[in-house]
Amino acid sequence: MRLLVLGGTVFLGRHVVTAALDRGHEVATFTRGVTGRPPDGVRALHGDRDDPDALPRALREWTPDLVVDTSCQTRAAADNAAAALAGVRGYAFTSSLNAYSTWPPGPVRDEDEPVWDSDEDDYGPNKAHAERVLGAALPGRFLTARAGLIVGPNDNVRRLPWWLERIARGGRVVVPDALDQPIALVDVRDLAGWLVEMAERGETGPVNATGPAGMTTLGGLLAGCREVTGSDAEFVEVPEADLLAAGVEPWLHVPLWLPREMAATAWDVGTTRARALGLPSRPLGETLADTWAWLQAGGERQPTPRGLPEPGLPAELESALLSSR
Ligand SMILES: NC(=O)c1ccc[n+]([C@@H]2O[C@H](COP(=O)([O-])OP(=O)(O)OC[C@H]3O[C@@H](n4cnc5c(N)ncnc54)[C@H](OP(=O)(O)O)[C@@H]3O)[C@@H](O)[C@H]2O)c1
Repeated sequence: MRLLVLGGTVFLGRHVVTAALDRGHEVATFTRGVTGRPPDGVRALHGDRDDPDALPRALREWTPDLVVDTSCQTRAAADNAAAALAGVRGYAFTSSLNAYSTWPPGPVRDEDEPVWDSDEDDYGPNKAHAERVLGAALPGRFLTARAGLIVGPNDNVRRLPWWLERIARGGRVVVPDALDQPIALVDVRDLAGWLVEMAERGETGPVNATGPAGMTTLGGLLAGCREVTGSDAEFVEVPEADLLAAGVEPWLHVPLWLPREMAATAWDVGTTRARALGLPSRPLGETLADTWAWLQAGGERQPTPRGLPEPGLPAELESALLSSR
């Protein structure tokens, strides 16, 4: 079938393109043409999806049967797609757990938890708005994947890449004394292939698209990073209170770490529906090894999304924390 990827040139979208080609679709991408290019064999349509005329103009050139939407960040982008693409047979949308007004801290038991319903121009409320307008325009043909933490090759958010690179450098590495906190994540390739399949099947409704709760822990993830990088890094556990007192920002400076009270619920996300719909969850070791292989091969750096700051512990902060231990 003719499958249009709204996005397709950075991280998740890029893997959606690969999956759609592998599954035999004729594929086009729609982007501004600013960040990257789709692979050969893919038709590159250009325009700004915030402009109401751009998609209709591109669709005069090429009409899709199916859509996978990885690039929606604004209300206008959602409204314009709903107006231009309401006729397709299946539309799989990438939302976020941030669409829930109660997450973080959560927990998210299932897809019936409340979503944002406000005019606020912010990430979560904008995703919830997009789900509403696209769902209304495509009754019975719209699936929204409320994605959790996405990791794997081409990761431009760079939380896991930062850990891999830091641990690979070896030596004494500051880690929070919270190595037993749970983590759930989804490999970008598992999510990408599944989104294409969901569009093909015309599946509908919201799905918490992340790995099974309790699939690993922060300690398990960091040990896996040490293993795949062949590093001799020594993990120096620093109490949470000391990290916070030193000005360390959870999640940003120490990627993937959440303060204890939040971690208990934020990683507790029900994925029964995702599992029933066949969202795979490959072994974590494979994700870590492939992400490390991608980094070693050059790990092309794309801008972080929505101007998010680059994650990681500044070297001077790390030295200060280590000097007293
Ligand atoms: N990373 C995570 O852990 C995480 C977690 C939950 C949810 N998500 C969601 O998952 C998705 C991740 O997608 P990705 O960034 O990896 O997808 P991607 O499709 O690989 O990259 C984003 C694409 O959007 C295009 N784009 C940006 N602004 C545009 C505009 N105004 N008009 C047309 N195209 C535009 C970019 O190309 P140009 O710059 O050339 O236009 C690029 O191709 C996002 O929707 C994100 O909110 C991510």
